Amino acid sequence: MIIRASLLDTPSPGNLRHYEDGVIIIDEHGVIAAAGASSDLLSETLLEQHDVFEAPADSRLLCVPGLIDIHTHLPQYPVVARREDALLPWLERHIFPTELDFQGPGQRSLIEAFFEELAANGTTTVVLYSAVWEDSTALAFEVAAEKGVRAVIGKIMMDEGSYGEPHPLKARRKSLEETTRLAKEWHGANKGLLDYAVSPRFAVTCSIDLMKEAATVAKDFDCYIQTHLSENDAEIEKVRERFPDNANYTDVYREAGLLGEKTILGHAIHLSDPEIDLLAFSGARVAHCPTANFFLNSGLCPVHSLRSAGIPVGLGSDVAAGPELNLWQVMRSAIETQGVRRMLDDSIPGLTPADAIYLATLGGASVLGKDKIIGSLDQGKEADLLLLDLNHILPLDGRFSGDLDPQDIATTLVYRGGPQATVATFTRGRQMV
Ligand code: GUN
Ligand code: ZN
Repeated sequence: MIIRASLLDTPSPGNLRHYEDGVIIIDEHGVIAAAGASSDLLSETLLEQHDVFEAPADSRLLCVPGLIDIHTHLPQYPVVARREDALLPWLERHIFPTELDFQGPGQRSLIEAFFEELAANGTTTVVLYSAVWEDSTALAFEVAAEKGVRAVIGKIMMDEGSYGEPHPLKARRKSLEETTRLAKEWHGANKGLLDYAVSPRFAVTCSIDLMKEAATVAKDFDCYIQTHLSENDAEIEKVRERFPDNANYTDVYREAGLLGEKTILGHAIHLSDPEIDLLAFSGARVAHCPTANFFLNSGLCPVHSLRSAGIPVGLGSDVAAGPELNLWQVMRSAIETQGVRRMLDDSIPGLTPADAIYLATLGGASVLGKDKIIGSLDQGKEADLLLLDLNHILPLDGRFSGDLDPQDIATTLVYRGGPQATVATFTRGRQMV
């Protein structure tokens, strides 16, 4: 297939690459056979030999890499925007009861609708938490496989102080058995589109034994690990009380063996310098979730300090703490987070729209170790693409906006982008929307 559109991507942090009149050729394996200026690539013979994607009438078609959401919670989506002013009461009142109900075959319709909504928002790779239930987690994988979604999914593990099996030892055994079965069946499934993430929720609801055993399972299957770190003051205090012998929150995960190059830590807001050094040394990665951090008054993640230390960072919508799956709005919020930090201390650099787009595309791919496969519009990468109509983002349908340079396009996307502009998404060349 041939797509004719403007092309925009970020081959490195903060750098925009743009072809006003561009073309992408996708081969029969769903791989980008060529991408660049149409004047260099297009010919009559090529057009005769391939299907050409039909742009909607009067559109300003733009192609960007599919967006990569590296932290969100599938069962929580129906209860976005349930107000509490802090993490722990919000979890107790809204999230644990919602996840408790996420069981049985009846969840299929929610899972299907969730993946459709993700694609409509332009997200082509997602890293997901389900709930503690094995059956609905397996169902999430089955639906993702049927639809051809690229996803990393994990069943939440907990053995203390929450919903599910009340007896800690039984909860731990069950959680490990179920996680092992799921990882065995799904890690690397559907020709590598699906992966497993061992998912101990956080140190507030996990014993050290559970976390240690979880780390072993992850090692055995070489799968991802995801958990939450240092999101909120009361949470950090609870971890200090539960693990008084550890130097800090991050050290608990170090002791458990949870930190490594396949570990994605959500939030990571209130870290001391030794914790940042420890993360950098371990190779762990951070999912920055700014819309969620504002919604629950959690704090301003020091993205610049994390990246300066060499920690790979990507973006997460983190529903239901984040109010929407729209990653453009998460990018905007990431810029605003660094903007506020800069207002308080002008030695801190801001985040540009181009850099925010990097975080939501190639940056997210790097967090997952998939930057050779997805995240930019390079020849040889898999065709995970978002096609959008800029006229549906510009004011007054773009009728009065004139020509836009690459910076204008990037800023418009980040400040006004959303599902209203999505024309199509492709995952490994397969059209999802
Ligand atoms: N910390 C532990 N569990 C959660 C969760 O579900 N959402 C958020 N935002 N933080 C958490
Ligand atoms: Zn989360």
